[in-house]
Amino acid sequence: MVTLFEPFTLRGVRMRNRVVVSPMSQYRAQEGVANDWHLVHLGRFAIGGAGLVLCEAAAVQRHGRRTHGDLGIWSDAQIDGLARVARFLEAEGAVAGIQLAHAGRKASERRPWHGETPVDGEDVAQRGEHPWPAVGPSALPYAEGWPAPAEMSVEDIHGVVAAFRDAARRSREAGLRAIEVYAAHGFLLHQFYSPIANQRRDAYGGSLDARCRLACEVATAIREVWPEEYPLVFRLSLTDWRPDGWQIEDAIHLATLLKKLGVDAIDCSTGGISGRERPQGMTLSHGYQLPLAAQLREHAAIPTIGVGLMWDPRLVEQSLAQGEIDLVALARELLDDPNWTLHAAHALGVDDEHQMWPPEFGWWLEKRARALRKLRLR
Ligand SMILES: Cc1cc2nc3c(=O)[nH]c(=O)nc-3n(C[C@H](O)[C@H](O)[C@H](O)COP(=O)(O)O)c2cc1C
Repeated sequence: MVTLFEPFTLRGVRMRNRVVVSPMSQYRAQEGVANDWHLVHLGRFAIGGAGLVLCEAAAVQRHGRRTHGDLGIWSDAQIDGLARVARFLEAEGAVAGIQLAHAGRKASERRPWHGETPVDGEDVAQRGEHPWPAVGPSALPYAEGWPAPAEMSVEDIHGVVAAFRDAARRSREAGLRAIEVYAAHGFLLHQFYSPIANQRRDAYGGSLDARCRLACEVATAIREVWPEEYPLVFRLSLTDWRPDGWQIEDAIHLATLLKKLGVDAIDCSTGGISGRERPQGMTLSHGYQLPLAAQLREHAAIPTIGVGLMWDPRLVEQSLAQGEIDLVALARELLDDPNWTLHAAHALGVDDEHQMWPPEFGWWLEKRARALRKLRLR
């Protein structure tokens, strides 16, 4: 029995295996609209056998974009582009999902290859891209060299909650069947729950429960419009990797609250609250975040998605089989090999004869494999 290839069901949605395409911003949208690039980029992973394909972070408010190229879901005009992607993914056997996002104080940032620093006059001159004002729980900048965001009023916060609700309705209309809320990596909801970015003293700051309030309100609002049979996932940072920050115990508390509000799984990442330097205490190795995911799975009793620096199907299988995680999300490894899932099936002895491949590819690959074996060339 190979767990990686056992189907997995969340609510009424069945995934053909445990492979999740981790959301990957492409910085290619214009005014947030999904285009041919998104269709081809994501379509490759559905053809490549993944179980759940998550469209990249889509901004629920225009000023909540991180970069000018972010996908968006703040307007009904953005539904058609997403619907086209969703139709293709589902037709190729994957579950089509989307990540809903608000960058908060991380908004108005340059694309990675332009420096991941705040947009300024240089971008206006070079690309006609203007900076815009960012908001956050408190007027604390993301890192050195970043402007302080405007502290959000309670009215602003209610606006964000409503924007997530509207985005869920648009996701439904686009034919998407899974939502992941981006509450990690220093995005707005993480800014609220982490004491590093939130120094409010009202209902949305101070105690752990108050800092978790916005994430909980977003979950509730989404569930009001998101079909009962469709899963809702939250991506959390399970630790800030800093003694003065958010800890795994806090994440377990939040996951427990979210579960009661209709959240079905936690995508277990870490870090990102302040600057891009790797914090002390964060040591990279294959699947380095999995022990934290396992801890959360045990103590919050909720399915987990493991993510981060994985490529070896045998190690992934081990983690699934041991019950550390229920699903695995891959990003960079899938950029390198969109057929990773199908290659993993071969490596784990689940698919010796290219049966799992779409016949347009598999028929030819099997024919070639037989010929090469016969000729002892491979
Ligand atoms: C090109 C690229 C874009 C990304 N965009 C997002 C995103 O939109 N939302 C998100 O939660 N994480 C994003 N990430 C992080 C990945 O989803 C993933 O958590 C991270 O890369 C670690 O997994 P990996 O080692 O398999 O790449 C991105 C990563 C890459 C490489």
